[in-house]
Amino acid sequence: MTVAADSDSVQCTNGNVEGKASNGLAKTLSEEYYLSRLSVMAKNRTHDEIRSCLHLEQRPGLISMLAGKPHTSTFPFTSLNFTFRDPADPASELPVSLSQEELELGLQYSPTVGIPALVEWCYGLQEIAHGRRKGEGWKLSIGNGSQDLIYKAVTALVNPGDSKHELSERVSGTTPMFQTLQCDIVEVETDAHGIRSDSLRHILENWPASKPKPKVLYTVPYGSNPTGATATLDRRLEVLALAREHEFFILEDDPYHFLYYGPMPRPPSYFALERDQPQTGWVIRFDSLSKVLSSGIRVGFVSGPEVIVQAMNDHSTVANLQPNSLAQVLALSLLSRWGYQGFLEHTAHVAEFYKKKRDAFQAAMLRHLSGIAEWSMPEAGMFMWFKLLIDTDDGAEGDSNSVIRTTALERGVLALPGHRVLSERAEVRIRARVVQPTRGEGRGRGVAEAERGHIGQPTRCIGEFSYVMRGFGQLWF
Ligand SMILES: Cc1ncc(COP(=O)(O)O)c(C=O)c1O
Repeated sequence: MTVAADSDSVQCTNGNVEGKASNGLAKTLSEEYYLSRLSVMAKNRTHDEIRSCLHLEQRPGLISMLAGKPHTSTFPFTSLNFTFRDPADPASELPVSLSQEELELGLQYSPTVGIPALVEWCYGLQEIAHGRRKGEGWKLSIGNGSQDLIYKAVTALVNPGDSKHELSERVSGTTPMFQTLQCDIVEVETDAHGIRSDSLRHILENWPASKPKPKVLYTVPYGSNPTGATATLDRRLEVLALAREHEFFILEDDPYHFLYYGPMPRPPSYFALERDQPQTGWVIRFDSLSKVLSSGIRVGFVSGPEVIVQAMNDHSTVANLQPNSLAQVLALSLLSRWGYQGFLEHTAHVAEFYKKKRDAFQAAMLRHLSGIAEWSMPEAGMFMWFKLLIDTDDGAEGDSNSVIRTTALERGVLALPGHRVLSERAEVRIRARVVQPTRGEGRGRGVAEAERGHIGQPTRCIGEFSYVMRGFGQLWF
């Protein structure tokens, strides 16, 4: 199949598909194809000679005179001791004392892709969680949190100032990334079952011939921020088919993967599903330790086509050299002691924690917001998105922004107006974030009072807002 590539990429053919992998897995796209899809900035990046040889230092017995590494004996840190929870018995704590070698590793520069043992651990997790093995034409790299990596992936693919349009579901954090690249977001509709693949199909089938086709679709597949929705299997499969058909990369941003607590088994990730597709290599997956180990530790990892991950690494070498070594050593010391079993046990406890918060929040919503709001129960993550049902005198859609900015705030609820997370119809939607740890009952009642007192009888939807359950995680129900 010949494809008309974007304005910034050369003509290429899907005939470049490399064919069935020797391990019998699905077809992968060729290196040339990926190179043709890189942004101008990514194509122009030069390699850092020192960093590109750094991995050779791993050779046993090698005396390296390569990089200007400071001598760790001059660093004032002499030991690092801490305790962590035993996932099998979360009430008990296990002590860790970093060995001299571990400490030195954490205090020193380390490879751009991440500390090898942690990278290996992450490869192992991808096999357990998504059935994806090393050597299947994808690569893994660690970053300073997943946001760092998402930004690098976007800049590896999207050219600034191209008047380009990229695809995204309703999101919060990544919108400014696209805006900074002077790129408009075409919002793909979502509902309680996640991204609407029919909306995506409609957008793509009606894409104006004069505009370059989108290169990326950004999506949060489980417990999306802010909608709370988890995409169904059917929709995921259709999105994957559309990605192949219309040649866009799926940026699978999945920090809530392990916070799934729905009644059905967790649907497979895009990364997992892609393995059995006629062609692989359209998914760039982002994992994060922020929601399950620590958000301050800033460790995330990307799994995706080698050329794209390499372009992201090249970005790191000029931007920040590498992910934080000490944070990686901390994470590794914990994860290697826990093992995969311990990690999965721990994340199951975390998911259970948020499920209880979801249930408590839902109960408070039923008590205080029945009839004046609509919502769907999230099955993963920390977010519940709901619509306010508000009457207006003239029957027109009003703006509930003022409820959030004035009355709700006076009652102790701090809200973020929804137009910050939406591209369209922004003026009639709001999104609220509870940031003050305080009594949940009061919060629910506060919103209800704000609603009733300010607007009157509810009949019409004029706004939507979500509470962040992370905030409720600190509330006392
Ligand atoms: C959907 C989504 N992606 C990415 C991030 C950032 O994750 P990290 O802390 O790994 O950078 C967040 C944080 O809340 C998020 O909600």
